[in-house]
Parts: sequence; C-alpha cells; structure tokens
Amino acid sequence: MPPAPTGARPGVLARNYEPLDVVLVSGEGSWVTDVDGKRYLDCLAGYSALNFGHRHPALVAAAKEQLDAITLTSRAFTHDLLEPFARAVTALTGTEMLLPMNTGAEAVETAVKAARKWGYDVRGVPDGEATIIVASGAFHGRTTTIVSMSDDPLTRDGFGPYTPGFRIVPFGDADAVAAAVDRTTVAVLVEPVQGESGVIIPPADYLPRLRALCDEHDVLLVLDEIQSGLGRTGTTLAQDLVGVRADLTTLGKALGGGILPVSAVVGRRDVLGVLTPGTHGSTFGGNPLACAVGIAVADLLVPGTLQARAATLGAELRTRVEALVAEGLLASARTVGLWAGLDVEPSLGMTGRQTCELLAAHGVLTKDTHGSTIRLAPPLNIEREDLDLALDILTKVLRERRAAVGG
Ligand SMILES: Cc1ncc(COP(=O)(O)O)c(C=O)c1O
Repeated sequence: MPPAPTGARPGVLARNYEPLDVVLVSGEGSWVTDVDGKRYLDCLAGYSALNFGHRHPALVAAAKEQLDAITLTSRAFTHDLLEPFARAVTALTGTEMLLPMNTGAEAVETAVKAARKWGYDVRGVPDGEATIIVASGAFHGRTTTIVSMSDDPLTRDGFGPYTPGFRIVPFGDADAVAAAVDRTTVAVLVEPVQGESGVIIPPADYLPRLRALCDEHDVLLVLDEIQSGLGRTGTTLAQDLVGVRADLTTLGKALGGGILPVSAVVGRRDVLGVLTPGTHGSTFGGNPLACAVGIAVADLLVPGTLQARAATLGAELRTRVEALVAEGLLASARTVGLWAGLDVEPSLGMTGRQTCELLAAHGVLTKDTHGSTIRLAPPLNIEREDLDLALDILTKVLRERRAAVGG
C-alpha cells in the first residue's frame, strides 16, 4: 500500500493569479464576507463587473426567473430574449446593431475580425494587409491575438508567435495616431480610459480628434468600454463624456451584472453587417440566461440614476483623494466618475500590493496595478457612508504608514 500522504497536497489550481489572502463566501451590495465571517467593503467590484453590487435583487430575480424557463439554445435556434436583448442594449448605447459574445476578450476579438473584414469587403484593403492602430499600455484581454497588440511584457512575453497587423502608438497622443495611419489602416482601437494601466485618462480632445481622424481617412473608431462602460464614468459610456460615438464599442463585465459572463460588440449596422452566417459565432454568446440578465442590466441603466450617482459620489471621491495628494500620502490621483487610480507616495516605501494587503486587513478590498498604483472602483450604488468609510480607512492606512517610516 502506498504511504498515506503526510504533507499538504501540492496545489492543483494553476497559478495564473496571485490573489490577496481573502477567501470569500458571500456578498450583498457593496459588502462581502469571508470564511471566518469577516466583512469587507468591495472597492474593486470585479473590475467593474459588479457595477451594481453583489446579487442586485433585480438581476438575481431576472436570472432566477430565466433558470426556470430555458438557459441555453445555442445559436442553431433562436429564443425569445435574443432580439429584446439586442434592442435594449443598442437603445441604451445609441447604437444600431449588437453581436453577443461572452467574455471581454471575445468581444475585442469580434471587433478586430469585423474591422478587418470591413476593411477588405468595403474599403478594398488588399487581403491580409489590414492594420489596426492600438495604444501602448492598453489592456484588451489575454487571447493570443490580443496579447499581440500589447506592449506589457507580463501580458505578452512567452506567447509568440504573435498575430501581425497591429501598430502600437503612445496612448493619449492623437498626432501619433495621425502619423501611423496609412492605406492599410482599418481601425483605431483604444480604451477611452485605460483601466488596467491605472485609470489613465487621456486629454479631453483625444477621442474627438481620433473621431475626426477616423472620419477623414475612412477608418473605424473602435472603443473598448469593457471596463469603462455601463455607468462607471458617471455616464452610460465613457465616450459620452466627450460626445463621441465610436463605430464599434465593446461591452462586457457589468453587462453580465456580476452573475455570468456577457459581452457584446455594439455599433454601426454596415460594419457588423459584414459578418455573415458562418463567419463568426459562439455556442454560448447571447444565451437566454445571459440575455435575461443583460436586459435587466440595461433596465437598471435606462433611468440614468446610477450614472448620476456615480458622478456625484465620484466628485466626493475626487475631493477626498486630492486631499491625500495634498497631504503627501499619494504621489498622484486620477479620477473619472466613481473610478480612481492612486499612486502611493514613494517615500512611504510601500508597494501597491502591500497597500492592498493593509487595506484588506482593515476590511477594504481593492487591487494594485503596475507597482505602486491602486485602483478604486466600488459598486455604483455604494452607500455614501460606506464610500466615506473606505476612504477613512485608506487615509488611516497611509497615515499610519507615514508615521511608521518616520515621516
Ligand atoms: C478594457 C478591457 N478590455 C478587455 C478585457 C478582457 O475582458 P475578459 O477578462 O472578460 O476577457 C478587460 C479585462 O479587464 C478590460 O479591462
């Protein structure tokens, strides 16, 4: 008989993440609870997938009702919620057509395929030569084509050979885009605000200038709003802040209400129309359960109350974090709507990760990125006093650290 195992079983979960040491078992609204019953304020909100908080009653009700009806048909058949879902999301976003997918990366892949096919079919770009201009520091997902458009070594290195056809230019620099456009360019694909990079906000004229450039050269403007969209910036889409409408917009995360992965590309009918039966698809894309939740998500956003709330609470968030900059606890702070990227003051000698660990110990969950940056993206319906509490705890953690390093 083999000897009974003595030590812990070696890990069986692939280590593609390095989570904080918090094991969650339940969540409600902005609060989550761990295995020991400790409660935390969720100020990451699933990277904006939980814009409506955990288990929003309207979203859970829509999902439960649909679980008792039908959950999957495949696209070999259709179902009663597919068209209503497309109508709800296009109406919400002021777009003409929707193509449903599941994850964010799939939506971006879909936009890349649609843009290339449009380039060949409509613009007459020679086959195989289409190029797409993307931004440095961007994050659009993890597939092999998408990592091919990344210049982040952690995301990209070790996964070649890479998909050709992407030109990377500095983010926020419309002149660089203008210089990179040529007759092979079919699209400019950027995030309106770079989320994973640390909530990097481009100059106010960036998107309007890209829009004008794309119009001038008959190039598609594709905006990845998977993280920035659906209320986070205080508007339905981040592009609404500057009055721009993209030709294609990718949506994901919050579209599934934190319940299941739901993504989509919305945009111009003549562009998405180049994808004909058999050229693209997904077994689960637009499934009945996803559509039920997606419609309920759109319904939550139609009145505009949540967007307005994100803007109001976002103004308070900005005042509070700017005070931390003035106090010398943060080196800088960028906010838009209810979304903040905070750079911890280097003299505190604390990485973003260490800051997140301390915050977690004090009952606030958030996520670091790129060294000393932390991100705050609480649910849009967080109670004002809970947001205050999270910011009080952040202030306390930073002040205590400064006291500890003798500042
Ligand atoms: C802007 C943006 N695009 C795409 C993605 C990829 O989404 P998913 O992880 O659902 O594939 C993300 C995820 O963080 C994102 O922030």
